[in-house]
Amino acid sequence: MRAIGFTQKLPITDDTSLTEFFEPKPTPTGHDLLVKVVATSVNPVDTAVRRGTTGVLPTPKVLGFDAYGIVDAVGDAVSLFQPGDRVWYAGSFKRPGTDSEYHLVDERIVGPAPEKLSPAEMAAIPLTSLTAWEALFEQMHIDVDTPQANAGKTILIINGAGGVGSMATQFAHLAGLTVIATASRPETIAWTQDHGADHVVNHREDLVPQVQALGYPTVDYILELSNLNQHWPEIVSLIVPSGSIVSITGSDTPIDLRALKQKRATFAWEWMFTKSYFGTPDMLSQHDILTRVAQLVDSGQIVTTLTKTLSPIDAANLRTAHELVESNRMIGKVVLTNESGSD
Ligand SMILES: NC(=O)c1ccc[n+]([C@@H]2O[C@H](COP(=O)([O-])OP(=O)(O)OC[C@H]3O[C@@H](n4cnc5c(N)ncnc54)[C@H](OP(=O)(O)O)[C@@H]3O)[C@@H](O)[C@H]2O)c1
Repeated sequence: MRAIGFTQKLPITDDTSLTEFFEPKPTPTGHDLLVKVVATSVNPVDTAVRRGTTGVLPTPKVLGFDAYGIVDAVGDAVSLFQPGDRVWYAGSFKRPGTDSEYHLVDERIVGPAPEKLSPAEMAAIPLTSLTAWEALFEQMHIDVDTPQANAGKTILIINGAGGVGSMATQFAHLAGLTVIATASRPETIAWTQDHGADHVVNHREDLVPQVQALGYPTVDYILELSNLNQHWPEIVSLIVPSGSIVSITGSDTPIDLRALKQKRATFAWEWMFTKSYFGTPDMLSQHDILTRVAQLVDSGQIVTTLTKTLSPIDAANLRTAHELVESNRMIGKVVLTNESGSD
């Protein structure tokens, strides 16, 4: 089968930074599905892994996490899907990725695909929606099904227009929260407003006076989706006593958790890959979340965050998509698809 990968860290403008090669089509065993990939997206994790690689790898590493595709074959322990099923998922950090013709994935982190979206519109959603859902509804313990009880609660979402922020803003709005999202350009400000932000503040300037000028001395929840070190002092200042903070980004230098002691605020990480990486007992919850998100998409309560489609899935288009994500200026998501006219 055809696949796209890399063996060493090269600038994405180099034609050999991501190249096509052929490898055997894998055979599914156990809980694995073999999926024919129809569309895949590029996330910052793809570019981070490529750019974080040292030396020369003995064999090409295949990136790609998001997928929409069709089940081609199943392992002997599979019970949730059968060949021919339409599926979507965000994959595992440990395994070869979806930048290939066929892909192996554990059925427990796969959901039935929505009915009403194009392949590209679907492939934009899984990784960012799992991240946003787990951050809000697992790590922050917000109940998505009690919007009336959540009314009056306020969340600050730092980086509202990126892939994750575009989903988090929609989910928080759906859960009944007042959403203050951050964005710095006219187009990202408009995008966050269109996706459910009640207020927008600029993350290139001090967030504290901007949020307070809106009438909120503090906020109940803060979801950090861009640069924890940069925004930490603002987070410490703005979180309400006993409030909840979740970050999905790394921390280049240690953060001072002692700063939260007087407010006894809670800080938690979200890593979308934790469940599949450690094979946790609640791994099946990603199947449940993707099933629920598909229903929300089909009912029109959540919209796709697709903004750019590249076709077909080949090395040149993949390099273009990596370059876009590396710019750190993405609005929503960039997707590669083999299905022509899919958006
Ligand atoms: N832990 C996990 O499971 C997980 C999952 C997904 C992503 N991530 C990480 O989360 C981060 C966001 O991912 P993403 O896919 O949403 O990224 P993205 O789509 O590439 O985000 C792009 C957006 O970032 C905004 N931005 C740039 N600099 C900023 C700053 N200093 N403060 C706030 N916003 C800023 C830009 O807004 P403006 O143009 O308006 O400035 C732009 O719209 C990445 O670091 C990614 O690796 C982690």
